[in-house]
Amino acid sequence: MSRISRRADARRQPAEAGPGADAGPHPLDDDGLATPASDPTGAPAAGVPGAEGTARGDAREPHLVDPEAGPVTGNSPPPPDDIVVDLRDVYKGFGPKKILRGVDMTVERGTSAVVMGGSGTGKSVLTKHVVGLLRPDKGEVWVLGERLDLMDQEQLDQKRTRLGYLFQGGALFDSMTVYENMRFFLDRLTTLDRGEKDDLIMEGLEDVNLPSTRDQYPAELSGGQKKRVGLARTLIMQPDIILYDEPTTGLDPVSVRVVSDLIVKLRDTRGISSISITHDLLAAEIVADRVHFLLDGQIAAAGTLDEVRRSDIPELQEFFKGTDAYGHA
Ligand SMILES: Nc1ncnc2c1ncn2[C@@H]1O[C@H](COP(=O)(O)OP(=O)(O)OP(=O)(O)O)[C@@H](O)[C@H]1O
Ligand SMILES: [Mg+2]
Repeated sequence: MSRISRRADARRQPAEAGPGADAGPHPLDDDGLATPASDPTGAPAAGVPGAEGTARGDAREPHLVDPEAGPVTGNSPPPPDDIVVDLRDVYKGFGPKKILRGVDMTVERGTSAVVMGGSGTGKSVLTKHVVGLLRPDKGEVWVLGERLDLMDQEQLDQKRTRLGYLFQGGALFDSMTVYENMRFFLDRLTTLDRGEKDDLIMEGLEDVNLPSTRDQYPAELSGGQKKRVGLARTLIMQPDIILYDEPTTGLDPVSVRVVSDLIVKLRDTRGISSISITHDLLAAEIVADRVHFLLDGQIAAAGTLDEVRRSDIPELQEFFKGTDAYGHA
């Protein structure tokens, strides 16, 4: 375990002590993306801790949790220790729209899973269940050996300190430098002193090979650099699992490779398990130990990228035609 993890771990604040749980607007907008705020006194109170780094949010938020679903009960046995995520027959709908219809998916400890599927099929909805931002209408969500779907808010907040969620776009605050963005996050989630925080920030930036960006503003960074800074901010809390929602979308091929290599490096050097949503075949090739293909509300195929690409399901064949997974040339 790295120096970072030991210190961040030791001084991690109880989740309810942070401002993120119930202050300010919800960190997610309707697309499930973090709301980048230009004013640090506005949304960030909920936005930073909830959006990236740790996936703290308010699961009572009415549009995120179906009030009619109620708690899911059951006594099924926990998965073996080496399974960090186990979705069992998960159903989720929004009103008449049935999005997930019996999702089964497991992720082994220390591996990188990739979720692929057409636009609007429910990939983001699926991953939000893994960080407790959504509860299933039916089914079980096992994360790190516990039923996330049965937890109350306090238990969820505690659990989320182990889970990182990296949103599309990096979600940095425009009016703050890279250092201030990371510092803001540490101020709210730890009781470290200033020198320790500064060390953590530099170590985090070194982890993503961007120490020179410390005093730059997000507008001065490339898209790939922003994603890496977002990742550095997530990493300083040493999560066990990181969820990446489209980590390479909009990046040039060189940056796609850099960000993808970083996800692999974190798996190999820190044993961080991950789930990445991507439609980028290059990213999937680099990152995926296992690909899970979502179709019609279920995982229609799972296996290595090559195995999934060889599927004879017509929708998958169509999906993988062309140079990217959406069939775009
Ligand atoms: N909070 C919500 N309330 C109502 N409908 C929702 C909510 N969140 C997602 N949906 C709907 O669920 C469906 C799946 O959305 P989701 O964002 O998971 O798709 P996706 O597979 O991630 O798509 P994309 O590739 O475009 O990101 C969409 O029809 C979306 O409108
Ligand atoms: Mg999505």
